[in-house]
Amino acid sequence: MSAALEVLDLATGYGDLRAVLDVNLRVETGTITVLLGRNGAGKTTTLRAIAGLNPTSSGRISLHGTDLAGMPAHQRARRGIGYVQEGKRVFKSRTVEENLLLGMYARPASNRARADASDLLDAAYTQFPILASRRRTPAAQLSGGQQQMLAIAQALAAEPTVLLLDEPSAGLAPSVVGEMLATIAQLRERGLAVLLVEQAMEFALALADRVVVIDLGRQVYAGAADEADVRQAVRDAYLGLAQAAAVAASPGGSPVESGEPTRAGWLRKWRRS
Ligand SMILES: Nc1ncnc2c1ncn2[C@@H]1O[C@H](COP(=O)(O)OP(=O)(O)OP(=O)(O)O)[C@@H](O)[C@H]1O
Ligand SMILES: [Mg+2]
Repeated sequence: MSAALEVLDLATGYGDLRAVLDVNLRVETGTITVLLGRNGAGKTTTLRAIAGLNPTSSGRISLHGTDLAGMPAHQRARRGIGYVQEGKRVFKSRTVEENLLLGMYARPASNRARADASDLLDAAYTQFPILASRRRTPAAQLSGGQQQMLAIAQALAAEPTVLLLDEPSAGLAPSVVGEMLATIAQLRERGLAVLLVEQAMEFALALADRVVVIDLGRQVYAGAADEADVRQAVRDAYLGLAQAAAVAASPGGSPVESGEPTRAGWLRKWRRS
């Protein structure tokens, strides 16, 4: 059976910059695949290509077996790809409820006829009770954690089957991180196929069924989350050790610039709490 989301030999970038050179992913329904890598590895660029916001220069992206080549972003959203971009992107001057209603516009026409808006709002408020109590509050007045929850609830309001999550733990207070873990685990229980981009290794591995590690646009590891070598693979990638091997294996292109991970301090703090 075809996977909910499949990415084969993806290459994409920005103008002449080949930010992603060779990425392969498979996300089954009701599972979480984590895409890990340090700053500049190409994680966000991969998600943007899947969502249709970056052109695919080669490779194939398919959703429930349908090739998405040439399909614009809004159609991919209607077909079932939800995308929570990095940085808690919500409409800050709009209320919580207005944000959720705006999320519903990306629903497929057939779903719009079926479930009415109040049912979807009820579902969102049941899953995120904190949003129910703040439904008339402008998003700008929510805490960072609440804005991130709202961004996820807004994406869910479009009733996606595949959800792309870009660093949902970034910048959250350690006390909120556990709540975010539970929220994402629930998405799996609801039968979504989740592709989670993370830099925080322990957060990611706490959730992952499958793990893909990329560095400088190339895939350097793929395996089940419980395989013994997964942590070492992630550490090697963060230290840049996996890079040389990947370039040697695929001599087609030069690596892009990259920086050091910036959230190491945050992660240490979370581990202590
Ligand atoms: N809009 C853009 N225009 C040009 N280059 C970009 C753009 N966005 C990202 N890049 C470059 O593409 C490469 C991959 O960036 P990307 O944002 O995908 O990395 P990332 O893995 O998401 O990193 P981070 O952990 O910092 O979010 C980097 O070299 C980056 O500088
Ligand atoms: Mg990113």
